[in-house]
Order: sequence, then C-alpha cells, then structure tokens
Amino acid sequence: MRAIVSLLVVAAACLALVLVASPAWAPWLKALHVVAVISWMAGMLYLPRLFVYHCGVAAGSEASETFKVMERRLLRAIINPAMVVAWIVGLWLAWVAFRFQGGWLHAKLALVLVLSGLHGHFSAAVRAFAEDRNTRSARYWRIMNEGPTVIMVLVVILVIVKPF
Ligand code: HEM
Repeated sequence: MRAIVSLLVVAAACLALVLVASPAWAPWLKALHVVAVISWMAGMLYLPRLFVYHCGVAAGSEASETFKVMERRLLRAIINPAMVVAWIVGLWLAWVAFRFQGGWLHAKLALVLVLSGLHGHFSAAVRAFAEDRNTRSARYWRIMNEGPTVIMVLVVILVIVKPF
C-alpha cells in the first residue's frame, strides 16, 4: 500500500511538472528523462541477475529471504518510480519537441512498450519469488537478462542517430 501511494505521489509530482513546464524547459526535462532512464535500466539489468542467483538457493533459506528483500526494494524504490518519470517526461518531450512525428520516435515507443511489458513480467516474478512459487529456471532468467540490454542499445541508437 505504501509503495502504491509513493508511486502515485511521484506520478502526480511529475504530471504537475510537465503541465506547468514551458517548451523552454525542454533541456532540463530531457536531463531528468535521461536520469530516470538510467535508473530504470540499471534496475532492469540487475533484477533478472538477482533472479538467477535466487534460483540457486533453497526456498526458506536465509539467502532466499535476503534476495526477497533486495528484489522488493529494487523494484519499489528504483525501478517503478524511474519508469513512471521516464514515461511522463518522455511523452512530454515527444509532444513538445516532435508533435509525436518521426519514424525513429514511433520505433522507439514500440520498443519502450516491449520494455514496459518486460517490466510487468519482472514485477510478477518478484511476487512469485516472494511467495516461493517461482517455477522458472536460472537459465530462463539469464536469457531474460538480455532483453533489456538489446532494447536499450536499439533505443539509444534510435534516439541519438535518428536513422529514419
Ligand atoms: C518511456 C518512454 C519514452 C519516451 C516517450 C521517450 C521519448 C524521448 C524523447 C521525445 C526524447 C527527446 C529526443 C531529442 O530531443 O532528440 C528522448 C530523449 C532521450 N531518451 Fe527517451 N523516451 C522514452 C524512454 C527511453 C528509454 C527507455 C531510453 C533508454 C533506454 C531513452 C533514452 C533517451 C536518451 C539517451 C535521450 C537523450 C537523447 C539526446 O541526446 O537528445 N528513452 N526520449
């Protein structure tokens, strides 16, 4: 409940910011967007790695309980709020600077939707691990770890090079 309230507070603060922002603030909001994206990606790259290690310890062991705390805190304190800020400020930039036009932007949005789907999958896994009912193997989570990496590389090329 506390996590949901703090997420709503972050979303409300961010929405208020983009509602009052003038286009002249774009460089500052772009800086905020990049900070949010770095935090989101750091968590999305680390969380499946924690799942790999978590698969290797017995349910109910001290190590398993420690992984549960690490996974929950990483998701709630870093990954969720960072994603909310990245989306709200990113959509503001997409409208103010580009009026949602551009092939690179459409491709980027499609990739970020896939990334957000992976985010949902990882959140569900945090709940499954917390209740000792994860059925997926360490190999599965090792493969899943590559998803955010590949998406990040493609998104950064799209947004910097703007090839189309
Ligand atoms: C959450 C949805 C997202 C939206 C709607 C969005 C949209 C945007 C827009 C419109 C810009 C301004 C581009 C420009 O001025 O040339 C931008 C900048 C940027 N975005 Fe995103 N973005 C999102 C997520 C991401 C993600 C996930 C990453 C990286 C993995 C990312 C990396 C960047 C970077 C590095 C810049 C700065 C580019 C520059 O130097 O101008 N964004 N984003």
